[in-house]
Amino acid sequence: MSTQTLTRDIFDVKDLNLWYGEHHALKGINFPIQKKEVTAMIGPSGCGKSTFLKTLNLMNKMIPNVKITGEVNFDGENILNPKTDLVELRKHVGMVFQKGNPFPQSIYDNVAYGPRIHGIKKKTHLDEIVTKALIDVALWDEVKDRLHAPALGLSGGQQQRLCIARALATKPDVLLMDEPTSALDPISTLKIEELILELKEKYTIVIVTHNMQQAARVSDKTAFFLMGELIEVDLTPNIFSMPKDSRTEDYITGRFG
Ligand SMILES: Nc1ncnc2c1ncn2[C@@H]1O[C@H](COP(=O)(O)OP(=O)(O)O)[C@@H](O)[C@H]1O
Ligand SMILES: [Mg+2]
Repeated sequence: MSTQTLTRDIFDVKDLNLWYGEHHALKGINFPIQKKEVTAMIGPSGCGKSTFLKTLNLMNKMIPNVKITGEVNFDGENILNPKTDLVELRKHVGMVFQKGNPFPQSIYDNVAYGPRIHGIKKKTHLDEIVTKALIDVALWDEVKDRLHAPALGLSGGQQQRLCIARALATKPDVLLMDEPTSALDPISTLKIEELILELKEKYTIVIVTHNMQQAARVSDKTAFFLMGELIEVDLTPNIFSMPKDSRTEDYITGRFG
């Protein structure tokens, strides 16, 4: 394997533009994302953070009147190519939403959902995947005696960890998280943040957060978005101590937002 392959960014987004009808929501985004790092996206509401995140696994491709141009290279392949297999892509690029949204099924079936879609049927194999995913999100001890109880009976923080386990069960390379703690209490938030720091040993994580302290605590790199543009992306300590762009400085010092 060449050095170039070893160091290649997992995502390399080039000149990405996205329109919802007439609304130009992402403007000329160039954004390489490195493997096994946590990249945080910050910026005021409506600046395109969720739109950008969803473009990484084409969750927004099916919205009527969406137009996307440019390149979203994932592992060297431009996923905007119409031949992209969306089921396969989402196996590699999992997503966790703002509000834990477990299916109205058992804890076990929620985690087994993805592997079953990908054709895994053997009970011993599913048991192994479910156990491992629940251990990985530090939920196993809390639920091991009630795996067949309804997932909706869990607390908000547990539901969010369950959704992370569901995303991990297909062994993704990348985990996209859209404000995963914004609906959680401080203790559940802390657990998710600790989890993110553990998961980055194995996964690439891209997280949208409205909370700048959270970005500072969990991320290696931080990207600042404003009105559809990526203003700058840099090592997190640099963004918070010496941003290059005055708009980033204005935002992080609370002058707007
Ligand atoms: N499905 C959609 N249809 C039309 N406009 C949308 C849609 N989703 C988002 N938008 C618009 O695109 C812009 C960016 O939204 P979004 O990516 O959700 O921002 P953020 O996550 O930074 O708050 C906003 O102006 C929003 O109203
Ligand atoms: Mg959003």
